[in-house]
Amino acid sequence: MNVLITGASGQLGNEFKFISGIYKDYNFIFNDKDTLDITKVDEVRDFLNKNKIDFIINTAAYTAVDEAEKEYQLAQEVNVNGPKNLAIISKEFGTKLIHISTNYVFDGEKSGPYLEEDETDPLSVYGRTKREGEKEVLNNTDNAVIIRLSWLYSRWVNLEYCKNFIKTILKSAKQRKELNIVSDQLGTPVYAGDAAEAIIDIINNWDSKSKVKSEGNRVFHYSNSGVSSWYDFAEAIVEYAGIDLKINPIETKDYPVPAKRPKNGILSVSKIKKRFNVKVPYWRDSLKVCLKLIAENK
Ligand SMILES: NC(=O)c1ccc[n+]([C@@H]2O[C@H](COP(=O)([O-])OP(=O)(O)OC[C@H]3O[C@@H](n4cnc5c(N)ncnc54)[C@H](OP(=O)(O)O)[C@@H]3O)[C@@H](O)[C@H]2O)c1
Repeated sequence: MNVLITGASGQLGNEFKFISGIYKDYNFIFNDKDTLDITKVDEVRDFLNKNKIDFIINTAAYTAVDEAEKEYQLAQEVNVNGPKNLAIISKEFGTKLIHISTNYVFDGEKSGPYLEEDETDPLSVYGRTKREGEKEVLNNTDNAVIIRLSWLYSRWVNLEYCKNFIKTILKSAKQRKELNIVSDQLGTPVYAGDAAEAIIDIINNWDSKSKVKSEGNRVFHYSNSGVSSWYDFAEAIVEYAGIDLKINPIETKDYPVPAKRPKNGILSVSKIKKRFNVKVPYWRDSLKVCLKLIAENK
């Protein structure tokens, strides 16, 4: 089985590089924007012409949430036209597509976990472009699923180009004694290792239902279990990593940033569990696993 990973230098992409050593039945092919730019439709078509690909996992994205408010054009190119190209070409070649999206497609005003069917209403350019990208995938191929993740983090703290919340906290501990973190935005951290494993489960349990045209059969939510605020998440990193940094809870209104974030980012994961039998570890357990790997430099 040949599995193409786009955006392979990012957090999730690197996780697939790591697990490619474990899942020997899959032949993973890694590409980043230098080798396969998803915004260039001819490049994508040419690649699939030369390489027989069974699954595309699109981890490529423009993820700089605040910068996107100014760089609208670039965010649009990568998050909307990129997935559109992949969907069109997937259809041409009979390739299955797994596209990654985000809880930022919601406005966060709901109380309780978001279901896949809930109405989307993004608050930011990033969220809007991600939602547009979802629609392009749904409209251009019937052999795709979309996985919306919440707060993605990874072990890749030493990779210069990887942005990541753990990296921010560990770096801050070297430079200062205290850090203010918002405590009134709720969500669930998602360990990239768990997300990658869940995507492998989706490939293993892929069935003809993914071909059904309705959005209900093709959009899924994935996160770890439990609920956290960014403050709780930061406190847990400090505690489990054993670092010396005081975390002060602050309100969103006291931390002005260009892009508005949803105050509720909690995703219901019942549907993906039932359909693809994925594992959903508790977020604190996965954080400990991740920090142990970082400490062991793995
Ligand atoms: N990070 C989060 O908290 C979070 C939360 C929920 C959902 N998600 C979603 O999860 C997915 C993976 O996120 P991530 O954190 O792994 O992202 P990431 O670390 O920012 O990685 C994305 C990768 O895509 C590459 N890329 C950008 N433009 C490209 C293009 N035109 N063609 C090919 N590759 C391109 C980027 O390269 P450059 O860095 O060189 O531009 C980067 O290596 C994304 O769909 C994201 O929207 C992320």
